[in-house]
Amino acid sequence: MESRHDGRRVLVTGAGSGIGRGIVLRMLAEGARVVGGDIDEQGLKGTVEAAADHADRLLTVAVDISDQDSAQAACGTATDHLGGLDVLVNAAGIMRAARTHEMSLDLWNQVINVNLTGTFLMCRAALPQLLQSDHPVIVNFSSTAAFGSNPYMAAYSASKGGVNALTHSLALEYVKQGLRAVNIVPGGITTGITDNLALPADADWGLMARLTGWINGGALGNPADVAGVVAMVTSKDGRYITGSEIRVDGGALM
Ligand SMILES: NC(=O)c1ccc[n+]([C@@H]2O[C@H](COP(=O)([O-])OP(=O)(O)OC[C@H]3O[C@@H](n4cnc5c(N)ncnc54)[C@H](O)[C@@H]3O)[C@@H](O)[C@H]2O)c1
Repeated sequence: MESRHDGRRVLVTGAGSGIGRGIVLRMLAEGARVVGGDIDEQGLKGTVEAAADHADRLLTVAVDISDQDSAQAACGTATDHLGGLDVLVNAAGIMRAARTHEMSLDLWNQVINVNLTGTFLMCRAALPQLLQSDHPVIVNFSSTAAFGSNPYMAAYSASKGGVNALTHSLALEYVKQGLRAVNIVPGGITTGITDNLALPADADWGLMARLTGWINGGALGNPADVAGVVAMVTSKDGRYITGSEIRVDGGALM
């Protein structure tokens, strides 16, 4: 395995499951020192077990990214432990489905608060430390849903569209200080989100054709498919990429 991230100081949210866990494992394998945050402490234990070969370079921290005090505290723990911060990966997120005319305001707010506001809170908390780095990168998680391919997911899609815009704004605002900010746009990836996909009764699956891609006969992707892209874009190999999206969707949106 390459060592593109030797000594790099990395904070990953959503580290207790799916794509976030995959990113933790990949960044460790490439030499990084990683702090993994998640609201699910059991999930974090599973990540520690999966990362047993690199236990000395992994710390986990409980965090609710939608709570500003918790986000700030987790970021403080990470930067104290790592002695600064080079990379922030905001992979924590939730998906809730409902027909839009039946969607409660509580459900709408829950999704926006975690996916969009939580991403903002983590960026805000991490930026002062990231701007001290000689090669700072923020990776935020969008979705093909932000591009109109997922019915019954209005709150989720809107939250991810907001993440896209947030990332573009960050990228330009801090470009002269050397920060890069990139959106990853996964299609269907086998994770906790897809395992627990609860669509409305009588959902029209004919509308869901763009959930999966074409590669591997239309199978869902794996967290490792996304993690490799994150490892590239946060390394020097990604040095000419900022303020843009990278789709990892097996060609779903071709
Ligand atoms: N899996 C897919 O098909 C897919 C597609 C497009 C985008 N995404 C995005 O990828 C990212 C990773 O999701 P995943 O697919 O690995 O799902 P996942 O459910 O496996 O992992 C998400 C993690 O986020 C954590 N989390 C949820 N709310 C949190 C909070 N308030 N504070 C801290 N942690 C919290 C969960 O505990 C979980 O461990 C998400 O942003 C998701 O929206 C996933």
